[in-house]
Amino acid sequence: MSEISAPVKGSRPEGATTEAEASKKVREMFTQIAPRYDLLNHLLSFELDRFWRARAAKHLRPILERPDALVLDLCCGTGDLAFALAPAGKARIVGADFAHSMLVRAMAKSADVPPADGAAAAKRMPFFEADALRLPFADASFDLVTSAFGFRNLANYEAGLREIHRVLKPGGTVAILEFVEPPEGFLGDLYRWYFTKVLPRIGWLISGHQSAYTYLPKSVAHFFRPPELAALLSSVGYQSVDFRGWTLGVVALHTAVRV
Ligand SMILES: C[S@@+](CC[C@H](N)C(=O)[O-])C[C@H]1O[C@@H](n2cnc3c(N)ncnc32)[C@H](O)[C@@H]1O
Repeated sequence: MSEISAPVKGSRPEGATTEAEASKKVREMFTQIAPRYDLLNHLLSFELDRFWRARAAKHLRPILERPDALVLDLCCGTGDLAFALAPAGKARIVGADFAHSMLVRAMAKSADVPPADGAAAAKRMPFFEADALRLPFADASFDLVTSAFGFRNLANYEAGLREIHRVLKPGGTVAILEFVEPPEGFLGDLYRWYFTKVLPRIGWLISGHQSAYTYLPKSVAHFFRPPELAALLSSVGYQSVDFRGWTLGVVALHTAVRV
């Protein structure tokens, strides 16, 4: 049985046939890998994950610099994007994720970040245990909703975009940083070999969880190509939809505005 089935509607980890099952499996998976999540992130990406989040923060600086801006980092995991956004400006940032053990680490890290790393904001940063498809926030609450490497895991992508749209203020921005299937050609093939053959083995060895790191490349293969995600953003009602690819196009940052 193939792990993930078309058409693209939402994440479907192995054995999940419904949205509820997919959600449950994703949540269990991140709950289990939380203790080794950061280490593996930095190791398996050769520290590029830090660079990608910092680059996203730089791109979003005009919003982050506004002292009145309220930002939601969705699928925040252990908080690394939220912590990368904080020093870039004066906005208030909150994080949300549905895996309790990821949030426990985010909370611990927020207390540990030294002041030189923008910790003043990080220390006050609240984290909420919440499902991205049923957010506990009022309509039109946020100026910016971000998600790094989390959106791809949602059980229903369109519902996710609609829920983000609901909590964004008119004029608010959504920013989604995600992995993308590598391009054709030698470097793309090399990356594909690493991503599908090497990374899952190292991930398994260090996390002790086999399926999480085979799920990663499969979920990326199953996910939208950048123009497809852009089209979905437009169809849901976002405007000024844009995307840019980084590092040979293996990650992309999509941005769009709620009118
Ligand atoms: C790959 S991690 C990314 C964490 C973090 N954003 C980062 O940059 O490292 C994906 C996160 O998405 C969360 N997630 C997946 N589906 C979710 C949902 N429906 N609601 C809330 N969080 C979700 C997982 O629990 C996990 O912490």
